[in-house]
Amino acid sequence: MPLVTTAEPRPTNFRFRCIACGNLNETANQDFRCANCNDLLEITYPCWKSALADPEKLKSAWRQRRVSLRPDDLSGVWRFRELLPELGDDQQIITLREGNTPLYELPRCAGLTGVPGLFAKHQGMNPTSSFKDTGMTVAATFARRAGFRWVACASTGNTSASMAAYAARGGLLSLVLVPEGKISWSKLSQALDYGAVTCQLRTDFDGCLRLLQELVLRAPVYQLNSINPFRLEGQKTLAVELLEQLDWQPLDHIIVPGGNLGNSSAIGKALLEMHELGLIPRLPKLSVIQAEGANALVRTLREADGRRLIGVQAETRATAIRIGNPASWKKAAHVIAATGGACEQVSEIEIAQAKAEIGAEGIGCEPASAVTLAGLKKLVKQGFVKPEETVVLVLTGNVLKDPDYTIDFHRGELFKGTTDEGASIALNPLRRAPVVLDATLDAVIRTLEREEKT
Ligand code: F0G
Repeated sequence: MPLVTTAEPRPTNFRFRCIACGNLNETANQDFRCANCNDLLEITYPCWKSALADPEKLKSAWRQRRVSLRPDDLSGVWRFRELLPELGDDQQIITLREGNTPLYELPRCAGLTGVPGLFAKHQGMNPTSSFKDTGMTVAATFARRAGFRWVACASTGNTSASMAAYAARGGLLSLVLVPEGKISWSKLSQALDYGAVTCQLRTDFDGCLRLLQELVLRAPVYQLNSINPFRLEGQKTLAVELLEQLDWQPLDHIIVPGGNLGNSSAIGKALLEMHELGLIPRLPKLSVIQAEGANALVRTLREADGRRLIGVQAETRATAIRIGNPASWKKAAHVIAATGGACEQVSEIEIAQAKAEIGAEGIGCEPASAVTLAGLKKLVKQGFVKPEETVVLVLTGNVLKDPDYTIDFHRGELFKGTTDEGASIALNPLRRAPVVLDATLDAVIRTLEREEKT
């Protein structure tokens, strides 16, 4: 089995640690599982405390890099390289200038939820239009450094788009496994354009991931799913950049969508590490929201107290999070508990409504991202989020990632023939269906007048 080693070209600042038995290692097998107990690995930094003893110095270095033109400083990920696995050679970085994503105020959604301090961190503004790029720059870089020619992933679409792009930039070959008919055309088209070998498998995401896990043990391909701990290290920087954008002022809640649960694990790890290093005085609560039809973590925490995974047969139109057996469920359960966060589920109708409301802010996002706003409404109702608190929703993907969903919604076709059809009528005021007219001035003016009256 090929080894992914940290032992070259010089001593590094990190080790692999098993999340279950704590076993520490300088190397990891290609399945990124513990050789003792088979659980997932995470990256840990044994000498951090002494090396990064001055948080103000770190903040100042990161601020200064914002005016630098070095490729690693232009990346919103590598700019925070002190918190990442050490590479040793900056020239090896594969970057598309990921990160550096905007933090938007959401005044209309703030009004709807009764939380004035509401923001959106829009990870859909990354180079391939999803949050995956922040992790991919790190993992693809380490894949190339470890000498692999092939990288591979199972995906609901965004990982594959991102992986294909970074592989292409880094001169690597990429293999994509996606569930046939269950990913959006936008995402599929990205993987094709960036040159990936794309296999549409007759199964769901969980089936694709299972197959990938077997494949990496048989063939010299480097796995770029979020089981790969380098991915999570890159995705951590979202939280660092966010706190910097808030001028390191305390923040109360971060709300993220949950699918395979890599992103929530990464953000939670960043919060715990920043707290440990004295970069933030207190921990924001990290909450994870899932679609009702893909609610494995919700059920795992409620019905099994987080002790064993309760897998589900996933079904949701938010295809990015159509995942029934999330790989990183233990990591996510840990960071939710450690930060005092919550885990909630939202219905298909609630997702569609929240997506239209975020769209009406002039921002937009893909359906999976909209679960955050839908979840926030529930958390406010439950009293878990208080009106005076500061809340950041993590919007994980761009509105253009799934145009079919948006068009179906506005045309009133999203819920046709489903049990939600009746209830979805309540969403009519949010719909903006296109109108087909004769090409006359009269027809356009009549349309304007009609809109004025409504
Ligand atoms: N939002 C979007 C837009 C996603 O693409 C994903 C995951 C998630 C949220 C959930 O993040 O898996 O880290 O909990 N997409 C993966 C993919 C699974 O293959 O693109 P997670």
